[in-house]
Amino acid sequence: MKRLLLLLLCLLVQPAWAIDFSADERALIESFGPWPPPMQPDPSNRVSGRAEAIAFGRALFFEQRLGGDGKQSCADCHLPAKAWSDGKPGTGGLLRNTPSLLDIRWNRWFGWDGAQDTLWAQSLRPLLDPVEMNSSLAAIAGLLRKDATLACGYRQAFGTAPEADDERVAVNAAKALAAFQETLISAPTPFDGFRTAMAANQPVPAEFSAEAQRGLKLFVGEGQCAVCHFGPGFTNREFHDIGIPYAVRPGLVDPGRHLGIRRLRDSHYTLLGPFSDDPARSTGTETRHVDLLHRNWGEFRVPSLRNLAHTAPYMHNGSLATLRDAVRHYSELNEERLHADGEKLLRPLNLSDTQIDALVAFLLSLSAALPDFPEAEPVCRVKP
Ligand code: HEC
Ligand code: HEC
Repeated sequence: MKRLLLLLLCLLVQPAWAIDFSADERALIESFGPWPPPMQPDPSNRVSGRAEAIAFGRALFFEQRLGGDGKQSCADCHLPAKAWSDGKPGTGGLLRNTPSLLDIRWNRWFGWDGAQDTLWAQSLRPLLDPVEMNSSLAAIAGLLRKDATLACGYRQAFGTAPEADDERVAVNAAKALAAFQETLISAPTPFDGFRTAMAANQPVPAEFSAEAQRGLKLFVGEGQCAVCHFGPGFTNREFHDIGIPYAVRPGLVDPGRHLGIRRLRDSHYTLLGPFSDDPARSTGTETRHVDLLHRNWGEFRVPSLRNLAHTAPYMHNGSLATLRDAVRHYSELNEERLHADGEKLLRPLNLSDTQIDALVAFLLSLSAALPDFPEAEPVCRVKP
């Protein structure tokens, strides 16, 4: 009798597995973790991981005087309360959606078109871009030399006062910005709890609902989502065309990766250029071998699927307002829209409403609550 009661109690408090996963599916699901993955400093950035540079980069990130008009900071578009995105469909000349900066340290390419191959180059670009912060190397360096607190932060991070060479000072500021952004890492999610339990053959944690389990089954099975969204970050870190319209407005199209490769080749702020701090160029192989192909036209980077609860709207142009819209896009996919040559991975899934709900529930299980982001201590206390 006692044993029976105990069994009943177990059944009540331990949500059972809603569905079975095959051995292959389990192996695939286990490869979506652990979270977070290992972290290495960026060899192309000598201040990556250094506390003084992180503190200085954090101050720069919120510094409105870095804007060309003296009134715009990175945080105006990358808001801590929105997982460092901005909730708007698009900004800049190509009206692209502002990406979250959480977990950015694991990217290989930066920007929707991968025009940058380092986080520091990606941090310099918005400062100089006329349609973003519209500043200049001279203005950035001038501010860091003139302002006693910023000059002190620079000295702590780089061991010298801002140099006379504007470009060197501005690139170093971007390297400090990168060091700060590398610390933005999202917390483990309900899915991660489930994955750990699965690996240890333990009961399913209550916060990973039966609906989310069914969504996961679709994600790794019929939906074939894991062909592109895999690994702990749920991205293959490369570029595809999934048929999101790329016309920005009449007469203007967003070429996506095709433009990204051309920009990368034109830039000297790359892993192979003179500002990389890694003489061995140990992380530069992909940059060296990038090829410009016709199929790159209209391709965009496969985004991570973590933190989506905080980063609506979705896609490179923010054209889909909700996660339901995003899943419906794959369900109703118009194959004629897939303009890239040879993209044969996708076909319309024709999902039922229940299946769409399940996929949405699974996608939501990949987000954790955001931590508060407290005001920073001043980088340097400069005596008057
Ligand atoms: C006017 C709004 C705006 C401002 C200001 C801005 N950004 Fe962005 N940021 C964007 C947009 C839009 C993109 C996507 C650009 C693209 O794909 O070409 C982006 C992309 C990025 C990325 C790449 C994200 C990814 O997933 O690859 C990083 C990193 C970044 N910004 C950092 C910064 C930093 C650092 C600053 C300040 C120096 C800054 N941004 C200022 C709007 C902004
Ligand atoms: C062929 C590769 C590929 C497959 C398969 C794929 N995706 Fe995507 N996914 C992408 C690309 C590329 C984008 C960005 C497209 C753009 O912005 O133009 C994207 C974007 C998304 C987004 C928006 C994320 C954001 O931050 O804006 C979601 C959500 C998403 N995919 C979910 C799924 C689901 C669910 C499936 C399975 C039904 C799936 N994907 C299958 C490549 C793929």
